Amino acid sequence: INDVQLALISDRMLQDMSIGLQKSTKSNVRMEMLPSYVDSLPDGSERGAYIGLDLGGTNLRVLLLTLTDSIDGGAKFDATIKSESYKVPNEKLEGTSAELFDFIAANMVDFAIKNGLEEKMLPVGFTFSFPFDQDRIDHAILKQWTKAYNIKDGVGEDVVQMLRDAIARQGSLKFEVVAVCNDTVGTLVSGVSEDQNCQIGLIVGTGTNAAYLEKVSNIESVNGYKDDRFMCVDMEWEYFADTGALNHFVTEFDKQVDATSPMPGEFIFEKMISGMYLGEIVRLILCQLASVGNIFNEKCLGDLGTTGGFDSRYVSDITEEAIAGHGETNVVKSILASVGVKASQGDVHTVQLVCEFVSIRAAHLCAAGISAVARKIKANHPEKNDLVVTAGVDGSVYAGHPTFDTLLEDKTDELCRNHGVKVQFIRAKDGSGKGAALIAAGYLKTARQLVGAC
Ligand code: BGC
Repeated sequence: INDVQLALISDRMLQDMSIGLQKSTKSNVRMEMLPSYVDSLPDGSERGAYIGLDLGGTNLRVLLLTLTDSIDGGAKFDATIKSESYKVPNEKLEGTSAELFDFIAANMVDFAIKNGLEEKMLPVGFTFSFPFDQDRIDHAILKQWTKAYNIKDGVGEDVVQMLRDAIARQGSLKFEVVAVCNDTVGTLVSGVSEDQNCQIGLIVGTGTNAAYLEKVSNIESVNGYKDDRFMCVDMEWEYFADTGALNHFVTEFDKQVDATSPMPGEFIFEKMISGMYLGEIVRLILCQLASVGNIFNEKCLGDLGTTGGFDSRYVSDITEEAIAGHGETNVVKSILASVGVKASQGDVHTVQLVCEFVSIRAAHLCAAGISAVARKIKANHPEKNDLVVTAGVDGSVYAGHPTFDTLLEDKTDELCRNHGVKVQFIRAKDGSGKGAALIAAGYLKTARQLVGAC
């Protein structure tokens, strides 16, 4: 996708963002532009211990965030994190919501026991990496299960209540859920604790999505604010292309990925970018090349011939070896052997190129999205020339792919160049869980101040 086309995609995303913020026009776009009710950000004065809970596409993370006085005597807290990661078993992706939430609560108990927290009354910030409607910080009505979650119930219900009920069923925990956020919002807030200029949260992992700081007066569904402060908006940009914005660029391989996915016709943007799909796109291209006799002199392609037979992790590993540039191709050969294909040196080169092109397209589409977000932020600050904003980023593709970050950064720079704004990217490691815990801390701090003022 060339630069002119990427600029047009960026324009379209910018347009859709504004349309999605207005109640009367919202139904014309698929991006959700959801208000998060996170309307204040950590300023370093938060203290105490908080639990962050982060349910993502593949893992559940539970963490204890402790905020103490800084040892250098500064006003900003020192933060320490203890965390555990639990793989979400496949059967929980397809069971009932109660089974999933019981799994979450059981692992909270495990975490509490391992860290001696059984008797502690701790506030919980819950990162839930799905789209949901909010009217306050601890209320979240699930709109749709996404990624590989194929759970039949739960849509239309409050996920905070489901979590509270599951914690109650465990019977032993004294934790109290006080805030819920999307992973992009958590990542943004966590980014602020590293860099006060952070105004964007981006996830490129199993799924992809972004959040940013929007003026409350621009979010039509939010009322009751006396001052014009900023609120994190969860864009749910994985839906962006579902109204046809990228039809011109969708290939036969994208169509096949879509057709065999759990939700055909939806998440077209995500299906071109995120870790759940990159390996499958590469696999389909390789099968096509093999079928016309361009690569792999074999009839049987082993696992490579079956849906899901090529992990997205391989795309990262193969790219890593390709850029190391020692001429060695052991990684590619052993990956191909593990999926049942014997590759010649020529095949290896082709496989590297396919991985490279699929990765470039994903990173550049993401850059088109982020440049639109940066331009929207710039439009909210017309007084500032040459605005610089920071994006906090997390997710397995961003963190694990060797060139994705540079491709994203360079292309975002180019796309923003004539718009008076520049984006700096920071890795927000553990961002979403830490962010949720910080949101809980901020919420309780404000609540205490209000009580104090009364
Ligand atoms: C979900 C979003 C989430 C993103 C990144 C998407 O599939 O719908 O809510 O933020 O993945 O995890």
